[in-house]
Amino acid sequence: MTTENAFELARQAAGDLLRRCGVDHFDLAIVLGSGWKQAANALGTPSATVLTRELRGFVAPTVPGHDGVISALRIGDRNIALISGRVHLYEGNAATAVAHPIRTAVFAGATKILLTNAAGSIDRATKPGAVVVIRDHLNLTATSPLEGESPPEPYASRFIDLTHLYDPGARARIKSAFPEITEGVYAGVRGPHYETPAEIEMLRTIGATLVGMSTVLEAIAAHHLGAQVSALSLVTNMAAGVSPTPLHHLEVLEAGRNAEGELATVLSTLVALL
Ligand code: HPA
Repeated sequence: MTTENAFELARQAAGDLLRRCGVDHFDLAIVLGSGWKQAANALGTPSATVLTRELRGFVAPTVPGHDGVISALRIGDRNIALISGRVHLYEGNAATAVAHPIRTAVFAGATKILLTNAAGSIDRATKPGAVVVIRDHLNLTATSPLEGESPPEPYASRFIDLTHLYDPGARARIKSAFPEITEGVYAGVRGPHYETPAEIEMLRTIGATLVGMSTVLEAIAAHHLGAQVSALSLVTNMAAGVSPTPLHHLEVLEAGRNAEGELATVLSTLVALL
C-alpha cells in the first residue's frame, strides 16, 4: 500500500466509524491491551459497538483475548472510543496495519490517545499487578509506521521529533492522581516469542524497565498526527530470567483478571483527567 493510501484509508474508516457509532467526533480513544478489556466495562455501557472487520482497512486480530471491536461511550461531555483487538507485527502485519486503528481514531477527532498494554517487568522492584506509566520507549521493532513514501499533504513530515512522545503534562496529571504509580521505559519488541534471559539483560543495560510487543508504533503514528499520547502498562510477569519460572501467555491474561479492580479505577479516573 502506498503511504497516501494508508492515510486515505484511515480517513475513510474514520467516516465509517462515526456513522456507525452515531456521533460526530471522538475526543479520546483508548486502546485496550491484554488484561485491560474487562476493566473497561466499569466505564459504562457503550452507546454503540462496531466490529472492526466492518471498517475499511482493518485487519482481524488473531490473538486469543483480542476481539476486533470499537465501542463508543459518552462520559461527561466527552465521546470516548474504546478500541479492543489491536493488531501486532507478530501476526504478520505491516506497521501501517498496526497504526491503522490509531490513525482512524485521530481522523475521527480523537486528539488524545491512551494506549494500554501488558508488559513484562525488567525492574526487579516492579511486580506483576503493578500499573506503570510509560515515560519513554525503545522501539526495537526495526520498523516505523512512517516508513515508505513521504506522507502526503497536509500531513507532517516523516522526520518527526519524538522528544516528548509520551505527553509530559498528561504524565504529571496521572502522577498527581496516582502518586504510587511509577514511570518506566518500555522496550517494544516484535515477538511473538518471549525474550531470552540474555536479551532481557541487554534491555536492562540499554535502559528499559518494561518489555512488550505493542504500543511503540501506535504511539509514533498518533504523535505524527498531532494527538496527545499517554500509555500505561499492566505488569503481567517478571521478564525472562528475572523470574525463575518460564513465561506463559495465560499468565498474562490471568494477571489482567486479578488486577481488574485497580485497572477500572485507573481508567475511570483517566477518562476525566487526560
Ligand atoms: N515480554 C514481551 N512481551 C510481553 C511480556 C514479556 O515478558 N509480558 C507481556 N507481554
